[in-house]
Parts: sequence; structure tokens; C-alpha cells
Amino acid sequence: MPTRKEFIKTATALSAVMSFEGLGAAMPSRNSRKPVVVSTWNFGIQANESAWNILKNGGYALDAVEAGVRIPEADPKITSVGYGGYPDRDGRVTLDACIMDENLNCGSVACLENIMHPSSVSRLVMEKTPHVMLVGEGAKKFATDQGFKEENLLTEEAEAEWKAWLKNSKYNPVPNWEKNHDTIGMLALDAQGRLCGLCTTSGQAWKMHGRVGDSPIIGAGLYVDGEVGAATCSGLGEEMIRIAAAHSVVEAMRAGTSPQKACEIVMKRLYRKRGDKLKNTQVAFLALDVQGRVGAFSLLQGFEYAQQNTDSQKLIKSGYLLT
Ligand code: GLY
Repeated sequence: MPTRKEFIKTATALSAVMSFEGLGAAMPSRNSRKPVVVSTWNFGIQANESAWNILKNGGYALDAVEAGVRIPEADPKITSVGYGGYPDRDGRVTLDACIMDENLNCGSVACLENIMHPSSVSRLVMEKTPHVMLVGEGAKKFATDQGFKEENLLTEEAEAEWKAWLKNSKYNPVPNWEKNHDTIGMLALDAQGRLCGLCTTSGQAWKMHGRVGDSPIIGAGLYVDGEVGAATCSGLGEEMIRIAAAHSVVEAMRAGTSPQKACEIVMKRLYRKRGDKLKNTQVAFLALDVQGRVGAFSLLQGFEYAQQNTDSQKLIKSGYLLT
């Protein structure tokens, strides 16, 4: 039986640990949050509008992010997400996506072909299977079993671009982020304080068949801890994977930094370790914490994100590291 003094000592130590881990009294209450949704790039504006229709009516952040990203996934003019996405070097459109809720539930699909909404398939992987990730033919079989229809996702415009690329490329995949604007990553906080995220992409244009980027990898392209914050990434996936970027940003927030500072810390760490290997490469982070604070930072100039809350819808240019 502990003495009163020992009990107080143990209780104090325990409360310090709980508070450090964000589990105790220091954890922000989930009640009455102001909802907010953020997403990468200018196509995030329309996507946010769809998500906002759910958030503004008190809906669930998970439903909001799914509804949001389905807009660019279905838009044939967006060449880096879903239908109309540029194909790999063999002319095949392969899609990657993952989703994560406020309780560490997550689902993912990679190298999925002929299904327009990998985002919705990733949600069903999370909700209906004992797994986190399905890839390739297995992911497609799961999707069609769940009632998704198979369709041709290669538009005439994307096919023409691919054929033009083939003429001079020597079949050599080269990252070109300016032409291939990349992933939509979306993070949402709902009125009940639930934080969820989703990211979806057709990946790097003209990639090797079977190449998977950061977007469907939990911890790389997306990470959500409902007690701390969430982060998503855009840019060259290989760089995000090697630094577990989204998870690193969330861990920096857990240690007490703001979302903005967390994005900057992880970007500087990546640049310190990779230096010239990042030449002409875009890497960008977007973060949202449980208090609704937003941060974003990119390696090169040019990254922007859309933000919607009760007051406004805005497209915001992020700060960047290299001038
Ligand atoms: N960030 C998307 C990709 O590299 O596939």
C-alpha cells in the first residue's frame, strides 16, 4: 500500500506524462470547435466548398474530406488527381489515396486502376477490412466487389500529352512538378473537434509502372492524431516518404510547436539532410491542429492552399525555404 507521500509523487509524475502526451487535462476539449477545412493547391477551393457543405451543418470531418476530394478526382481537367490524371510511362493511369480519422483508423489504396474515386475506396478499406492498405489488382477487386464501376480514366488530352512526352523522353521518368501539380491533401476539423484527413493523386506523371508515392502512405502523405493535429504533403513523394513527412510534422506539433513552425522545422531538417539532391524539386507541407490553427511551408516558391471557415474562403500562398 503506498504512503500518502508516495501516492502524491506518483500521481504528479503520471499527470506530467499524461499532459506531455496530450492525454490528460492539457488535452484541448473536443466541444464546440469552429470548423475549418484546408486543402492543397487552387483546386482545393472547389473541393473545400463541397467539404464545407457538410462541416457547416455540423457534419463529420471524415464525410467532409471524402466529399471534398471527390470533386477534383472527377474533374478531367485536373491532370494530377483521379480521372484525367497523367498516366505512367506505359500509358496507364494509376491512383493512390489514403484516409485517416481522429482515432488512428486509416485506409489506403495504391496503384489502383480504372476506379475514379480511390478516396472512397480507401475509406472502405478502413471501414470494411481488417487491413490498412490494398494495392493494384487486389485493390481493384475489392473496389468492384464493393460496387465501384470500372471506367477508362485516360482522357484524350492526357493521352496526347503522354504521347508527346514519349517522343523525347527516352522512357526516362523525370519529376516535373510545375506541369504536374500534384496531390490534393485535405484536412478538416468539425464542430465536435474531430480532425480527419485524406489525400489522393495520380502521382508523378510518366512514372515507372508500379511506382507509389507518398500519398497513400500513412505517415508520409498524411497523418492525423485527433489529440494533436494533422498534416498532409504535396510534391515529390519520394522525398516525403524518406522523412515520414506528415508524421514528423504532427510529432513536432505534439512537442508543442505551432502548425506553421512544425512545417518549417521538418522542411529544414529535410533540406539539411538532402541538400542539392532536392534541386528543382518541390516539397510542401500543410498542417492543422486541434485548435484550428493552420500552417504551411514549401521548399520552393509557388505552393498555395485553400482554406475555408465560417468567415471566409481563401487561397493562401505559403512561405518557402529557398529563394
Ligand atoms: N505527392 C504525390 C506523389 O509523389 O505521388
